[in-house]
Amino acid sequence: MRRRRAQAPGADGCARYPGVTSAPPTPREAPVTPPPPYLADFVVVANRLPVDRGDGDEEWRRSPGGLVTALEPVMRGTDGAWVGWPGKPDMQVEPFDFDGTRLVPITLTAEDVELYYEGFSNDTIWPLYHDVIAAPRYRRQWWDAYVRVNRRFAEASAHVAAEGATVWVQDYQLQLVPKMLRDQRPDLTIGYFHHIPFPAYGLYSQLPWRRQVLEGLLGADVIGFQRVADAGNFARAVRRRLRYDTKASGITVPTGDGTSRVALARAFPISIDAQSYADLARDPDVQARAKEIREGLGNPRKILLGVDRLDYTKGIRHRMKAFGELLEDEHIDSSDVTLVQVASPSRERVEAYSHLRDEIELTVGRINGTYDTVGHTAIRYLHHGYPREEMVALFLAADVMLVTALRDGMNLVAKEYVASRTDNRGVLVLSEFAGAADELGSALLINPHDIVGMKETIMRAIDMPGAEQGRRMRALRRRVFEHDVNAWSKSFLSALAKARERAGDRA
Ligand code: G6P
Repeated sequence: MRRRRAQAPGADGCARYPGVTSAPPTPREAPVTPPPPYLADFVVVANRLPVDRGDGDEEWRRSPGGLVTALEPVMRGTDGAWVGWPGKPDMQVEPFDFDGTRLVPITLTAEDVELYYEGFSNDTIWPLYHDVIAAPRYRRQWWDAYVRVNRRFAEASAHVAAEGATVWVQDYQLQLVPKMLRDQRPDLTIGYFHHIPFPAYGLYSQLPWRRQVLEGLLGADVIGFQRVADAGNFARAVRRRLRYDTKASGITVPTGDGTSRVALARAFPISIDAQSYADLARDPDVQARAKEIREGLGNPRKILLGVDRLDYTKGIRHRMKAFGELLEDEHIDSSDVTLVQVASPSRERVEAYSHLRDEIELTVGRINGTYDTVGHTAIRYLHHGYPREEMVALFLAADVMLVTALRDGMNLVAKEYVASRTDNRGVLVLSEFAGAADELGSALLINPHDIVGMKETIMRAIDMPGAEQGRRMRALRRRVFEHDVNAWSKSFLSALAKARERAGDRA
């Protein structure tokens, strides 16, 4: 993958691309040659840019978070462009270079944020695709904004992509971009990766715009999912709704001119930059911080840890219910066992999220009011995001990691915990409804809806002998290190390159 400032290919450098035009020079004026446009051979398109900037700050910082963490090493190894929203409404920023990547900011107005991001993306698609844990709301105005904003992303991507470039579209906020992009720029190779679950057809079919979304996704040459089951659900929806043929992972998509192309839909489970977590875990400062954290909690015998965005899909309430009952049943004592719950603020203007926050904080208050002592707390609740160093210190301090999602595309936190445990100690309790469960079979798998089962498993984790912890952790670590984020992006991009070759052969 190579980035270049291409020579102007036409008068304005973009006229050769359908859909991108400019006015001819005025007669008799000396022709002014505008600077050549920036053209990239590899473009990532995601709802968010990989950077953010505090209020009043001049400096951009790399932002934390699953997707950025996952793609950071990919972008580090290549020259390219990243198209995305800078994260605040009405922010108008010219394209700029950051750490060797060209960033192309997309402006979202306050109304776009409300209708496209909070509305359709996070109050329609998010709950629908997470098995309607919260009720999805279907609003036509939100859909219109989703179409409008997806088009804006597609146009900006078409503009920055060099001829024959590879464009990798990310996640559920941009499901229409692959088709929009293909319509404008048939020369591109287009990949799409879906970071969240794809639901069973019985649920998916609720979506009033189910056909348009499937067609949008099928604009890609390769459509990647977290789990085999997600890819299966997608193929089933395509068969049922569009009546297209599907064979193995190939979907035959009619092109409108009597011919057809094949789109590949299969699982590519995402991962993390495992080595960078192991490196931090070996850093003496991080280890000292882990000790300090334990001391700060009054050196309990066991520390349980939950780390989540404050989201109803994460099963935080179920986890707290189980923990509260273990205290009530006197299986554990707050002077002996502490639960640290990091709940980072998320989508706070969406009603389901503000309700959830109220509920969680009420529960924490009740449990702590009942079981805290002057020297020890039952639940240390932290409504903040933290830098990676602090997260790894927390992982090292935690004897038991609780990932109790009711539904989750992958859950990278489970993998981060494993990668950080260079000492081969610690126990991962993992929901079978998180994508990570397909790979991390040596964790203690739970059904978070089964509170009795979850309580028993938490006790088993608390009491697990060191030798068994070591056996399980080594197996988990092997998997996470063999299938790290580099392996993920390589396998996706090589499937994409093959798809392009196949398309070339047919042309
Ligand atoms: C999930 C999604 C990402 C999203 C992230 C944070 O991991 O798959 O696409 O960026 O949550 O959510 P936010 O709404 O803050 O971008």
